[in-house]
Amino acid sequence: MPNISRRGLLQGTAAVGAVGAARPAGALDTAATSAPAGLPSKPMQKYIGTSTSRIDGVAKVSGAAKYAAEYSAPGLVFGFVVDSPITKGRVTRIDSSAALQVPGVYEVLTHENRPPLADDDKAWKDEVAPEKGSPYRPLFDDKVLFNRQPVAVVLAEDWDTARYAASLLNIAYDAEPNVTDLMAQEKDAYVVEKPEKPRGDAKAAYDASPVRHEAEYFIPTEHHNPMELYATTAVWEKDGKLTVYDKTQGVQNVQKYLASALKLKPDDVRVMSPYMGGGFGSGLRPQFQVVLAALGALKLKKPVRVVLTRAQMYALGYRPATIERLALGAEPDGALNSLTHEAIAVTSEFEEFSRNDTGWGGLLYRTPNSKFEHKLVALDVPTSSDMRAPGAATGVYALESAMDELAVALDMDPLELRLKTYSDRDQNEDVPYTSKALRDCYTRGAQAFGWSKRSAKPRSMRDGKELVGWGMATGVWEALQMPTAVRIALSADGDAEVSCATSDIGTGTYTIMAQVAADALGVPLEHVSVRLGDSTLPQSPVEGGSWMAASVCNAIVATASDVRGELLAMAKKIPGSPLADADADAVILTGGALALASDAGRSVPIADIMRNAKATRVVKEKTNAFDKLEDYAKNTHSAVFAEVKVDEQLGIVRVTRVVNAVAAGRILNLKTATSQIMGSVVWGIGMALHEETLYDHRFGRIMNANIAEYHVPVNADIYDIDVIFVDEPDALINPLGIKGLGEIGIVGVAAAVANAVYHATGRRVRDLPITLDKVHPAA
Ligand code: MOS
Repeated sequence: MPNISRRGLLQGTAAVGAVGAARPAGALDTAATSAPAGLPSKPMQKYIGTSTSRIDGVAKVSGAAKYAAEYSAPGLVFGFVVDSPITKGRVTRIDSSAALQVPGVYEVLTHENRPPLADDDKAWKDEVAPEKGSPYRPLFDDKVLFNRQPVAVVLAEDWDTARYAASLLNIAYDAEPNVTDLMAQEKDAYVVEKPEKPRGDAKAAYDASPVRHEAEYFIPTEHHNPMELYATTAVWEKDGKLTVYDKTQGVQNVQKYLASALKLKPDDVRVMSPYMGGGFGSGLRPQFQVVLAALGALKLKKPVRVVLTRAQMYALGYRPATIERLALGAEPDGALNSLTHEAIAVTSEFEEFSRNDTGWGGLLYRTPNSKFEHKLVALDVPTSSDMRAPGAATGVYALESAMDELAVALDMDPLELRLKTYSDRDQNEDVPYTSKALRDCYTRGAQAFGWSKRSAKPRSMRDGKELVGWGMATGVWEALQMPTAVRIALSADGDAEVSCATSDIGTGTYTIMAQVAADALGVPLEHVSVRLGDSTLPQSPVEGGSWMAASVCNAIVATASDVRGELLAMAKKIPGSPLADADADAVILTGGALALASDAGRSVPIADIMRNAKATRVVKEKTNAFDKLEDYAKNTHSAVFAEVKVDEQLGIVRVTRVVNAVAAGRILNLKTATSQIMGSVVWGIGMALHEETLYDHRFGRIMNANIAEYHVPVNADIYDIDVIFVDEPDALINPLGIKGLGEIGIVGVAAAVANAVYHATGRRVRDLPITLDKVHPAA
């Protein structure tokens, strides 16, 4: 199984990101297809680039779209998860007798009576599991590794009975002392292997710099809080096979994981997830409810549904609390001499999760000396996980706050400092970018925002009782691609079915797949149906890392090219064929016919080609081909401008305007792309002002495990958000020039807001979220 963890990617060769240092031949080498010699000719562009509405929109808003907890089967059993109130220790006794006497209760599943589970750590490594450590195994044994860990599942004929019976369980624990506080354990931080290459002597250059800024920033633990609860309906089939409807960002990842963890034959497990009510990274790894539902189904030989409570979802992954330390040394004209970035983040005691927080500054900004260090602190918590732009959302928040502080120290406009230190090459690797239109992001974003009217001094702009602040920041993310296969079945009447085991996690994947297929096959959009979210479909990685649009859409074009090739071969056999001597790359599919690109008059309708060949459809399957482009950096960029208004007496902060100008290669669908960035900006505002998971470290328990007390922005918190896409043609990265959009939109937003708060109030808040108690004049 190829390891496609992002860390692996950063070090590997297939989709090397911004900061790859060592580049050994990665596991992906075998999976990637041949170099893109003979790339398919570009499709017509009738739908690509347009604001096509979601093809699944009606199904979603009308309730026709089914989610994991909405599937049923005769005799459906409901499972209620019982979770641990202790944070570390052992379960010493589970007395289920009272629960089992409740009418309608079938079973209480515990580590003592569960069906067999694999012993071997490797059997539990899903495709995005951290390389180091032992994944958590639900109901495996009596050990408790984190608070709210599941210790039993009550299986009953309805939900209320299961929940009531769960309250009758008598469970005894042997608790050990727990540690969950990053700040208190910082002394135990250890350095993780990191791909970022230092250069020069950052310390000496910093010490010798006439203008310096050094500070520590902090991002608290944040949870994904997707709207849809984590849920699985596991259907036990008569022949012992499992059909599993799961909430996940990767059906084949879950299918392989379940089969190996539950010691089943891979072919006996089918996983489906056609719709998902928000993932943001929380569904990249298989979550424990899928194991619990499958165990229940195997135990009872019945269909079992398990839905987690909102509180139980706080025992899944999360964005790790992170301390970030920046040191910047500069000349009075703003030229950087030195950039040092250290991060200390949370992981679990049993797995080592880390992402690239520290490499972004050395990539972005021109400086002869740089040094990076990523450290981890292992705590008694679940393993931290990917959450929208993992590493960058946090690391770039700190970097861009520090750049703003350096600009203040230099008495220089912060945008001017970014331009002064701008680099057309990846500074870490000293390689060019496949494309980098960040300069245009700065220019167009500043223009749309009216940045030139900013008065430099803090507290110098107001609107009635409110202080007004303007801040900006840079965003950067990776443009990744993964091996992904697509099958196209084109019928004689011009209907096309496009299928791939990818997911649509709400990003618009269904729609962009249909747009690209319609253009590549020359058929109307309404003639294209898209199938995804089923593990039996052609191979796909998890949908994440912003890699899916580029991966699956280029696979569609490559597959459509094969469809066209076969149609041409068939067309040549037609007596007197106008395409008898046409080359494969001289023909296109357009208007339901195969035609010469240079002379649309020489064409044959698809229906005629198939009739002559006595075929009803042409079916092709192919994996995307992409050049690894090892001598290039592949990134998306953005420039974020934010306006805040701060109540001078109360310290209440409102983000009244955000302009996010994004360079992300070809935009496939202006409408869904704008929605992606807008949603990301809302998240960035939440990160800046609201989001914080609060622990009672004495007990290791989260105190605000609900979306009433875990604050996220609501409509009343959101004002104007202006999304701009700058032109960024990229002929190198892939045939369609796609870079991906899922994550770039959040990067830089929190820093832009924090910088605006400083500009408004003169107060620099370095620990997120910027709540009113930190801004209040009395604070
Ligand atoms: Mo995203 S954090 O790769 O779902």
